[in-house]
Amino acid sequence: MEWSRIAVFASGQGSNFTALVQAQQEGKLGGGSIELLVSDKPEAPVAQRAEAAGIPALLLRPKDFAGRELYEAAIVAELQRRNIGLIVLAGYMRLISSVLLEPYARRIINIHPSLLPAFAGKDAIGQALEYGVKLTGVTVHFVDGGMDTGPVIAQRSVEVKPGDTAESLAERIHQVEYGLYPEVVAALAAGRVELNGRITTIGE
Ligand code: GRF
Repeated sequence: MEWSRIAVFASGQGSNFTALVQAQQEGKLGGGSIELLVSDKPEAPVAQRAEAAGIPALLLRPKDFAGRELYEAAIVAELQRRNIGLIVLAGYMRLISSVLLEPYARRIINIHPSLLPAFAGKDAIGQALEYGVKLTGVTVHFVDGGMDTGPVIAQRSVEVKPGDTAESLAERIHQVEYGLYPEVVAALAAGRVELNGRITTIGE
């Protein structure tokens, strides 16, 4: 397994997928190479983005399998065939089971649109607005068996401004994501991230 061989998992728009592809094209992915898109929604816009970028896609519908384990086993087989060493979740709207977590322990990361542990789970941006926080942001973390509970790798804050709507706040959060995620992926691809317990360190 090589850290520099990357699969991106996404279920929706895929704007973070595109930001990662652009970073790679600009030589800003630490030598990392996006080898595969995995999507559980074959009709999602991200699938078209992969096609346009010339990146192979594994598009599997979970309901075509007799259970989550078999769905994930099919994914693992393809990842291993391609010698993938890093899984980057970018709006992948499913919890991951031990079938994927075990062979890829500490090799799966996610991006979440809040400063975790605040506002885990769905609609983090709506949750933050409703709570009335003045500061929210973006977290990149390792994935474990829980919902947005794995060790934090990097965080960046975003101010909530008076009059913000879910759309206006999401737009500013997205812009921060497009900068932060490629930076973290580059660090991992280059082997610059250390993990001790829950504490991560990004080296030079
Ligand atoms: C991002 O806001 C990310 O934080 C969350 O899902 C969203 C995906 O957006 N996990 P996109 O599909 O990359 O446009």
